[in-house]
Amino acid sequence: MKRLTNKRILLGVSGSIAAYKAPDIVRRLQDLGAEVRVVLTQGGAKFITELSLQATSKNKVHDNLWDKEAELAMGHIELAKWADAILVAPASANTLANLSAGKASDLLSNVVLASDAPVLIAPAMNQKMYGSLAVKDNLSILQERNIKFISPEYGEQACGDIGEGRLADPGEIAKQVSEIFSSTKLTGKKVLITLGATIEAIDPVRYLSNHSSGKMGMALARACIEAGAQVTLIHGDVSIPLSNKSNNISANSASEMHQAVMENIGNQDVFIACAAVSDYRVKNIEKNKIKKENKTLTLELIPNKDILADVCKLNHKPICIGFAAETQNLIENAQNKLKNKGCDAIILNDVSRADFGFKMNDNEVVFLTQKSSLKIQKNSKQKIGRKIVEIIIEKFL
Ligand code: CTP
Repeated sequence: MKRLTNKRILLGVSGSIAAYKAPDIVRRLQDLGAEVRVVLTQGGAKFITELSLQATSKNKVHDNLWDKEAELAMGHIELAKWADAILVAPASANTLANLSAGKASDLLSNVVLASDAPVLIAPAMNQKMYGSLAVKDNLSILQERNIKFISPEYGEQACGDIGEGRLADPGEIAKQVSEIFSSTKLTGKKVLITLGATIEAIDPVRYLSNHSSGKMGMALARACIEAGAQVTLIHGDVSIPLSNKSNNISANSASEMHQAVMENIGNQDVFIACAAVSDYRVKNIEKNKIKKENKTLTLELIPNKDILADVCKLNHKPICIGFAAETQNLIENAQNKLKNKGCDAIILNDVSRADFGFKMNDNEVVFLTQKSSLKIQKNSKQKIGRKIVEIIIEKFL
């Protein structure tokens, strides 16, 4: 099997003289087994014809956000969902600025915004432009967002200048695209992840919940999907979009989440309990809204079942990874959870910190097993997610 077999690559071609190399990039991607569709920006169309890209990609070229018929056939949201990866090559200075500013000014920028597929950019421009602070800043913003950067080459440029800014070799570009799929370490494996906050009703209007956003769980889900796993998400309340490449099951309360996990845990290879599950629920949920009275109100709370502990007790239990959200005696509390719940590893999360953890885009964790302790330094949740998945593969699979 070729490295890009069954992979759908959306190639964004923007306004640089190097756009004339785009048909070659299409070919190199196809040689590796990919299906390719092209989005051509207005600038790109000044340097390469739609016809050349249509002939090589064997698909209609998408070049207009406002074309009613094209939107009906395959609109920008469908294109975004279609792509397993988006490659912008060549990426002009203007396109880099649009993408880093999160603009939705043309079809390509809309598709990038609307997709949760990995994005790669191969810049190409004059060496002075490439060396400018503005371009450098835009590139670093994009890299912080996990966009993969394919460095341009040094050499003679179309304008006669010599320097860094020539589009990378099309063969090298295709190879780097294939490398993002090269981790097939979870191919054939099933991973079930709980994420988000559970909601415990008090009455028809109020509820008990917590600050979990679901970002760490989604980062783990993406990392597992990238590594080839079949992922099921059982999610409470989340503040971010879920992947469309996983089987997503919604569960509001801890009891609903417990039931959904138990119904879906058979045949799973890995269980990652990332949800912030309420330990208690209200004993008597009021049918009608509780009215304000001038005296204290006492809610009687009863314990919920521990989902992670119950999965760990199953006869054919999957590899079980839990999280420990702690504010004090971090390691000691996390180690107790590891032991008491009977899981294979616990990921310690210090939720008292203001600079990472709950709701934030960054995190810092310690991966604990009975025998080892590994600190993963502060980074974006996406990178932490990838690292955690790598460790799970290395230690348990
Ligand atoms: N968990 C669970 N079911 C529960 C409570 C927690 O599956 N009813 C899981 C969480 O998803 C997490 C781990 O258990 O993976 C630890 O959750 P955490 O909230 O840190 O700890 P608790 O077990 O609830 O203990 P405490 O609140 O006393 O710290």
